[in-house]
Amino acid sequence: MARIRRRLIAGNWKMHGRLKPAVAEMRRLAALVRRAGRSRCDIVICPPASLLVPLRATLAAAGGLRRIALGGQDCHSADAGAHTGDIAAPMLADAGARFVILGHSERRADHAETDALVRAKVQAAHRAGLIAIVCVGENLAEREAGAAYRVVGRALSRSLPASGVTAANIVIAYEPVWAIGTGRSAESGDIARMHGHIRRRLGRLGPGLEACRILYGGSVKPANAAEILSLADVDGALVGGASLKIAEFRPIIEAAWAIE
Ligand code: PGA
Repeated sequence: MARIRRRLIAGNWKMHGRLKPAVAEMRRLAALVRRAGRSRCDIVICPPASLLVPLRATLAAAGGLRRIALGGQDCHSADAGAHTGDIAAPMLADAGARFVILGHSERRADHAETDALVRAKVQAAHRAGLIAIVCVGENLAEREAGAAYRVVGRALSRSLPASGVTAANIVIAYEPVWAIGTGRSAESGDIARMHGHIRRRLGRLGPGLEACRILYGGSVKPANAAEILSLADVDGALVGGASLKIAEFRPIIEAAWAIE
């Protein structure tokens, strides 16, 4: 049976990447996807903003623009203005991004981002025509206190705007904070249960939202990708560390292809 939702594998490069090696990695990724023939799942790379324009040029030259999308890692809630050091959603779109990650736990922790701010950023992303990848996830204390479902459900309903959200312009990433960059991913049963919870909650937040793609993120690597990607209600992965080198990212993409 054909899947209703196309899988999405997203690479979050965080604050890593210099021009020359980044261009070389992107060429490798474009060659891999080109050799595979058809694009069997969506792929998006979210590099630092400084690399969007050169990577778009790399993809265009390698014939990969249709198969690999680019995304930002954050945007401001305003479309322009006196906000030193920030980047606006229309700028990301202008630089070649089609997606933007919002509400990542590192932004929430490092910059005290609240659900209300994330919601305003989602609206800004939508005004610019970007697809927002909205991150939610509990920390270790919340999980141990048995509060994970409540925390994630609350973050979800508060981080999404009340109108204008569709399954086409939103992707949810469930990223348990304690699993990010730690090498310790959540257990399969916990991931499947949380994704089911998120999907039911989405269904209550708006008509058709249960069809949103829900990604898992947190120490996804070649060794666990196939198992995680085959779980119920998991529509893809948001990959940090393992997306930096195509040699490590490749088996994750291939795992998604293999279960198509
Ligand atoms: P990780 O990061 O894969 O390095 O754990 C995931 C993320 O933060 O998006």
